[in-house]
Amino acid sequence: MKKNILIIGGTSGIARSIANQYAKRNHPLILAGRDSVEMERLSSDIRIRYRVPVCVKIYHAEAYDEHSVFFASCLEEPGVLGGIILAYGYMEDQQSAQADFRKAKQMIEVNYTSCVSILETAARYFEQQRSGFIAVISSVAGDRGRQSNYIYGSSKGALSVYLQGLRNRMYASGVHVVTIKPGFVDTKMTYGLNGLFLVSKPQDVAKRVYLAIQNGKEVVYVPGFWAFIMGIIKAVPEQFFKRFKL
Ligand SMILES: NC(=O)c1ccc[n+]([C@@H]2O[C@H](COP(=O)([O-])OP(=O)(O)OC[C@H]3O[C@@H](n4cnc5c(N)ncnc54)[C@H](OP(=O)(O)O)[C@@H]3O)[C@@H](O)[C@H]2O)c1
Repeated sequence: MKKNILIIGGTSGIARSIANQYAKRNHPLILAGRDSVEMERLSSDIRIRYRVPVCVKIYHAEAYDEHSVFFASCLEEPGVLGGIILAYGYMEDQQSAQADFRKAKQMIEVNYTSCVSILETAARYFEQQRSGFIAVISSVAGDRGRQSNYIYGSSKGALSVYLQGLRNRMYASGVHVVTIKPGFVDTKMTYGLNGLFLVSKPQDVAKRVYLAIQNGKEVVYVPGFWAFIMGIIKAVPEQFFKRFKL
């Protein structure tokens, strides 16, 4: 019997395609998120298409006090939990987040604080099991702060640094931690935004995520050319970078 895969942020554009990657390889799925109606619809579709068990759990990123009960309920499902994929996130327009701290705070809480909360809970379990994987979708936006997106970017940057430390901690237990850094992806998050370039399809991102987990990668840029682009962007000295309109 294949191990269960927990996908949090089950309704996200990228997560839907990741769910298909695992379902077609006969992994039972646990889809978690806050939109139960949409998740039930997705789970029916996956069950019919791939004939794998799919269960749905409610998860609210900012409901920190509920995270350990939520995770315990995932462990109660039949089978063994093989890995967790965090695929949720929140991006607000930079200008409105500058004007209204509540929007900035929500990005920080959803993209960083909540991830620490649920991942610390999951990490304790996988550490005791001495197996499993933790895969998290961060972003290239976290590699360098830019005036057009630095509040969202810093929440993802903090997440990427957290994952470096978690990977270092989990190494001794044989638990694999992978950081996924996509460039622009065609999902609800980017719908209608100006200035997008080299936009990927969620299906292609999902294939890369699956392979990164299978192949034990640590940090993966998706598509791979973003590693090169970000290498150049990170190399520009701050004294010049501060003058750019990015
Ligand atoms: N799209 C891009 O260009 C891009 C680039 C780099 C990284 N990423 C990252 O990739 C991941 C997936 O994003 P996507 O592009 O697939 O976005 P998406 O389709 O807009 O999905 C966002 C997901 O986050 C969930 N979510 C937001 N706030 C939440 C909260 N408070 N509690 C629980 N769930 C919450 C949404 O749930 P509802 O359906 O209930 O709203 C939805 O499932 C995110 O971490 C994102 O930051 C995206």
